[in-house]
Amino acid sequence: MVDRYRKLTSSGPGAFLAKRLGLPRPENLERHRPGRPVLSGPVVVDGADGGRLTEPLRELVASLPSAERAGADESPAALVFDATGINDSTRLRALHAFFHPRVRSLAPCGRVVVVGTPPELARDAREAAAQHALEGFVRSVGKELRRGATAHLLLVAPGAEGAVESTVRFALSARSAYVSGQVVRVAEPVGPAGVPADWERPLDGRVAVVTGAARGIGEVVAETLARDGATVVCLDVPGQAAELRAVAERVGGDALPLDVTAADAGDTLVAHLRERHGGLDVMVHNAGITRDKTLGRMDADRWDAVLSVNLTAVERVTERLLAPDDSGEPVLREGGRIVCTSSMSGIAGNVGQTNYAASKAGLIGLVQALAPTAAERGITVNAVAPGFIETRMTAAIPLFVREAGRRMNSLRQGGLPVDVAEAIAWFASPGSGGVNGQVLRVCGQSLLGA
Ligand SMILES: NC(=O)c1ccc[n+]([C@@H]2O[C@H](COP(=O)([O-])OP(=O)(O)OC[C@H]3O[C@@H](n4cnc5c(N)ncnc54)[C@H](O)[C@@H]3O)[C@@H](O)[C@H]2O)c1
Repeated sequence: MVDRYRKLTSSGPGAFLAKRLGLPRPENLERHRPGRPVLSGPVVVDGADGGRLTEPLRELVASLPSAERAGADESPAALVFDATGINDSTRLRALHAFFHPRVRSLAPCGRVVVVGTPPELARDAREAAAQHALEGFVRSVGKELRRGATAHLLLVAPGAEGAVESTVRFALSARSAYVSGQVVRVAEPVGPAGVPADWERPLDGRVAVVTGAARGIGEVVAETLARDGATVVCLDVPGQAAELRAVAERVGGDALPLDVTAADAGDTLVAHLRERHGGLDVMVHNAGITRDKTLGRMDADRWDAVLSVNLTAVERVTERLLAPDDSGEPVLREGGRIVCTSSMSGIAGNVGQTNYAASKAGLIGLVQALAPTAAERGITVNAVAPGFIETRMTAAIPLFVREAGRRMNSLRQGGLPVDVAEAIAWFASPGSGGVNGQVLRVCGQSLLGA
């Protein structure tokens, strides 16, 4: 799908006109390309006195590959502030002291990253209040930033300081182009130590399944996981077999035409994985459908179809992957990853989508309930909640509703399938064992459900 308005306002006369008329001018977001350094320029790192992460963050940022800037352009690519030392509201002033003089010089598509402590782990009420305050700060900064810049709050549990690299890399890099104003929690990692030998190919030697891989977001998830080194089993309904085979061939994986709602879908998938790959490391539940109608006009078939594909099939297949099979072990190996595709509809609700929003909210419940028990086997369970993503699904929305959906976020544009895929790849990474039971909105900081 082409966003013609964004194209127009990035051209000389279009940009001039939009500026004169006070119309929004969506930035061309920088996205990751293989070989592109994590940092697009200099990064300023500081922290409040007594912070646990200021030194580790300085060391980490210094170790990350960075692009050379032409000439004397010293505008920071990112501003990183460790706020874990702030244990009282009077000390929140340190945020102002750090960001106020610098925020306006942030480079286009720059990053604001604030690091704090989960408020529920604070030592007393004052510290909890101060740490919770960071959320309001970051969400507001995200709304103020211009030119494609984004803001992130990382809440790092005490003891999890060594587990932040994968998340800091994601937040600082172009991989998180369409994620802003979100809170990510990092806890002590579950399962085997998982720092990737090569951060460019963290999934080397791993097997992934992507459902709904014949097109749209699923197709790009398959490409992205394959780029990161995984062997990808591409799954979609038999009616999409030709498209599915083409995707599987392109990503060097294999195609499994299968309806996830079939009674034996779990058995068929497990048999395929055992026979061809021995086991599974990453399960991406991406297949999903909409059958929109307002509730009074919605027949039971629409309700059933959406709930069965989007939620019941995910529950059933996941149960099967986590249960021991004939070998005595579950097919999803220790250190495995499960990622579900929820939606902003599941968070904010949407007219005409009682069925869809129920299914997508149900996925959030599933992720949160499974995460603690799956962690006992080193498995993480997370979800992405995409906002407006440019796909066939959103191309079918009537023009004016589509245009409103596209612009009602801090970045004033729709996201691309690759933005969802990058978030899934970050959850899937062996380095992300500290990220469990979470829902990441990939929505450009949508005004809905904010
Ligand atoms: N596009 C967006 O803006 C957006 C926003 C939020 C969430 N999502 C979610 O992202 C996921 C992908 O969306 P998309 O826009 O790429 O949709 P899409 O319709 O382009 O692709 C979905 C794929 O899932 C497959 N599928 C449907 N039912 C299936 C079944 N029973 N078994 C196996 N495969 C099945 C379809 O054949 C299709 O290839 C969905 O879960 C959707 O709800 C999309």
